Order: sequence, then C-alpha cells, then structure tokens
Amino acid sequence: MKNKFLLFIFVAASFFNTNFIAHSEESIEDIIKGRKAIFSNNAKLAKRVNILLREFEVEEAEPIIFEMSKNYENLLNYFPENSKEGYGTEALPIIWEEKDAFNALMQKAADDMLQLAKVMEEVDDIQATYKKLMWANCNACHSRYRKPH
Ligand code: HEC
Repeated sequence: MKNKFLLFIFVAASFFNTNFIAHSEESIEDIIKGRKAIFSNNAKLAKRVNILLREFEVEEAEPIIFEMSKNYENLLNYFPENSKEGYGTEALPIIWEEKDAFNALMQKAADDMLQLAKVMEEVDDIQATYKKLMWANCNACHSRYRKPH
C-alpha cells in the first residue's frame, strides 16, 4: 500500500517535470518564431511607408508608422537569455553580451518612428528623412546584431 502511494507520487512528479520541460521548450520556439514574425511584418510595413511617403500620403502612412513603433517596443520582450539559439534564429550572441546597448537601439528605432510621424509633414526632403529615421536603424542593428545573410 505504502509502495503504491510512493509510486503514485513518483509518476505524478515525473509527469509534472516532463510537462514543465516540454512547456518551456515550446515557449522558446514561440519566442524565436514570434520575433521573426514581428521583424518580417515590420519589414513589410516599412516598404509600405516608403511607398506612401514618397507620394506624400502622410495620413495613410501615420497609423502604419505608429504600428511599427509599437512592434519595436514589443520586440524588447522577445530576447530573453534562453532564446540565444535554435529554430533558425539569426540573432547573434553579442546581443546578450551588450543587452543594454541592443535594447537602446531597439528603443531608438521605436522613438525615431514617432519622430518621423511628427516631422513628416514639414520637412523639405521627405526621402532623406525616412531614410534616416526608418531605414538607417535597420542597418545599424543588423550590421552588429544579426547574422549576415
Ligand atoms: C535593434 C535591432 C533591430 C532593428 C532596429 C531592426 N532589426 Fe531586423 N532583425 C534584428 C535581429 C536581431 C533579427 C534576427 C531575429 C532572429 O532570427 O531571431 C532580425 C531579423 C529581421 C528579419 C528576418 C526575419 C525572419 O523571418 O527571420 C527581417 C526581414 C528584418 N529583421 C527586417 C528589418 C527591417 C526592414 C528593419 C527596419 C525597418 C529592421 N529589421 C530593424 C534586429 C533588428
């Protein structure tokens, strides 16, 4: 009787244990695939903003610019310590060696999009402005923190 009870505890404990491991494994996959999806989406949105601003369609561009900014802020949560490798990630380990600088660059990318929305109606050279406040941040980050591809 006592043995059966102990066996029950053992089986129950190992069930929770493997369940827990399986679950955290799944979250890493969710995180890496999740951030890739957000970056892909932002790349698509950036192309759209580029097309709209070239034609001075500022009203149509504005909500997309805000969405990109929010996506960047959200991405700050997508680089936990346990998501350095696997699932085809192109993130480089240096991100976690200088996490503050990486986060600052992500925050700058988010802030620059808000700045773009603020100045886009008044600037003389709209193309130079979105190059500086939108595209330059992609390159600044990728050249240091993403695998060459
Ligand atoms: C602050 C850093 C940072 C900024 C800013 C940034 N990226 Fe990235 N990007 C990354 C990192 C890191 C990855 C790799 C993510 C991974 O594979 O886990 C990535 C991945 C990507 C991917 C590949 C997604 C996939 O499916 O694998 C695309 C496309 C992309 N970025 C486009 C852009 C564009 C376009 C911009 C600017 C409008 C931009 N990124 C701005 C850091 C950044």
